[in-house]
Amino acid sequence: MSARWHTFPTPEAAAEACCRHVAAILEETLTSQEIATFAVSGGSTPRLLFERLAASAVQWKRVHLFWVDERCVPPTDAESNYRLSEEHLIVPAHVPRSNVHRIHAELMPDHAARHYAEEIRDFFALEPGEMPQFDVMQLGVGPDAHTGSLFPGEALIENRESVVAAVYVDKLNTWRVTLLPGVLMAAKHSPFLVAGADKAEAVRNVFQAEYDPLKYPAQIVTHHSRRVAWFLDEPAAALLE
Ligand code: 6PG
Repeated sequence: MSARWHTFPTPEAAAEACCRHVAAILEETLTSQEIATFAVSGGSTPRLLFERLAASAVQWKRVHLFWVDERCVPPTDAESNYRLSEEHLIVPAHVPRSNVHRIHAELMPDHAARHYAEEIRDFFALEPGEMPQFDVMQLGVGPDAHTGSLFPGEALIENRESVVAAVYVDKLNTWRVTLLPGVLMAAKHSPFLVAGADKAEAVRNVFQAEYDPLKYPAQIVTHHSRRVAWFLDEPAAALLE
């Protein structure tokens, strides 16, 4: 496991460090590529990161935004990951609309997943069976060690062939659309931003429990992806030895 973790006194300090890390990767990427691809997660923690990235010197006109997952709600819904990104990153950073590849989660779940998979396939010009390789994939983790919308027990955690799927999350009684493990594992850089004491057990299990991604889905990334860096506040890191 190549994953590294960095601990900070507050969520804001962790977000600041994660912002510097992501901005540096994007800028470095843009020295050798015309554009960079950046897949973001949702929830609530990423707001701290998005606000800082929006104020950074990243050349957003050359960065294409995608989503790791989305709740099956309209883009104006308070639960929408897109809305979180729009309010705190896309609008303040003036990300061109043509660079925004949101999940159309207002559609029926399977249709939204197919639509997103097609957009990714077209954008990355994927050959059949090929995985898109995002330059940066920003992730979070839930108290149950889920990441994206890959929740414990989800059979798609063992799927390495497909790119996107609609998943029904029993515990939340809701549909979501999520990138699948093959895509998460293919990312060039996978920064996690995690804050709060409620994440401490999940963080400890992801790093120190036996490898069991059906139980601890975030282990898919931490054990298989390249250049994984966790940015934690002290409460979230409290159980790490
Ligand atoms: C989502 C996210 C999800 C998130 C975790 C942690 O749609 O909820 O993509 O995977 O990263 O739930 O969310 P917080 O960081 O807000 O606790």
